[in-house]
Amino acid sequence: MKYSIIVAKSLNNVIGVNNQLPWRLKGDLKQFKKTTMGHSLIMGRKTFESIGKPLKGRKSFVLTSNTELEDQENVYFCQSFDQIEKKLEELGYDHAFIIGGAQVYKDLFDKAVRLMITDVHVELEGDAHFPEFDMSNWKCTEFFDAPQDADNDHAWTRKVLIRKETL
Ligand SMILES: NC(=O)c1ccc[n+]([C@@H]2O[C@H](COP(=O)([O-])OP(=O)(O)OC[C@H]3O[C@@H](n4cnc5c(N)ncnc54)[C@H](OP(=O)(O)O)[C@@H]3O)[C@@H](O)[C@H]2O)c1
Repeated sequence: MKYSIIVAKSLNNVIGVNNQLPWRLKGDLKQFKKTTMGHSLIMGRKTFESIGKPLKGRKSFVLTSNTELEDQENVYFCQSFDQIEKKLEELGYDHAFIIGGAQVYKDLFDKAVRLMITDVHVELEGDAHFPEFDMSNWKCTEFFDAPQDADNDHAWTRKVLIRKETL
């Protein structure tokens, strides 16, 4: 199984505040939708609640310690990463996107062979952060700059990084 992390983070690694995104970036959300459509997504329970509804056209695997939650159409509540991996295999997947939040990025960072990072060109205060990591272990294979405009609070840069030891 291969895993990709997808994240939007500020220059000081903030990804969220009060269980919400700290910016409005329509361009990045479009990229997120295009990239993940038809795929499987792994997320924490808080991120699932923050999104507020199942993401259409994708399967969501939601980590939670709560055993009372019932699966919905295309939404699977799982109590461990191993349980998710087993379910992905049963369903015939060989890849999934890890989509956050902070706790899940930190715990699953070492599983990722690809990072799809949107660097949001701002420094701000927040209560959820992306973990620090060593850039020298990663090779940048794609790079795309987008300006600040009416639909995007800040300029942003999308980067795709591949873990060098997997090249
Ligand atoms: N900028 C971005 O790209 C981006 C992306 C995603 C999220 N976010 C932001 O990140 C913030 C949320 O991050 P967060 O760290 O607070 O929460 P989170 O990682 O989304 O969810 C944490 C919850 O996931 C469950 N969980 C995690 N690991 C588990 C495990 N191994 N076994 C069982 N359950 C597990 C637990 O749920 P229970 O408490 O139910 O047990 C835990 O409380 C929000 O502000 C959100 O907007 C930003």
